[in-house]
Amino acid sequence: MKQMELRLNVNGETKTWTISPGDLLLDVLRREGYFGVKRGCEKGECGTCTVLLNGRPVNSCLLFAAHVEGQELLTVEGLAAGETLDPLQEAFLEHGAVQCGFCTGGALLSAKALLDRRANPSETEIREALAGHYCRCTGYQKPVEAVLAVARKRKPKIIPEEAA
Ligand code: FES
Ligand code: FES
Repeated sequence: MKQMELRLNVNGETKTWTISPGDLLLDVLRREGYFGVKRGCEKGECGTCTVLLNGRPVNSCLLFAAHVEGQELLTVEGLAAGETLDPLQEAFLEHGAVQCGFCTGGALLSAKALLDRRANPSETEIREALAGHYCRCTGYQKPVEAVLAVARKRKPKIIPEEAA
């Protein structure tokens, strides 16, 4: 079958992979060892295969890998800085938002995309951002609480007016 080169940036690193034109991004990422990108429904419904493409969440099961030529991807493997977890990862652990973990990588990335564009999202906005991520374990409330906790910590401090 015809092969082609795919050049892209994954988690801050430049990669060149050999792919077939019809390869799905989900398959290529897992083939290259990014197992945090999970295979779920393969229909764009469950959110487990979510990655950030130029900062926006996408379902990698619906995208041809060739489509991301020259673009930037973030997978859940790129969230932590070495041994230091991202604040969202810490909060998910603290709030019991990680149980089996199958949905967690995708949910973390959608939460990150939201917080990167909205410093102080409302609970409704957080629920909307996480709505595409099926979770059979947590009842959805704990991930929302975790993202809210990170958002609250980020809120700029209100400086009280000086006494007259
Ligand atoms: S595996 Fe892609 S949305 Fe379910
Ligand atoms: S933690 Fe198990 S599916 Fe969400």
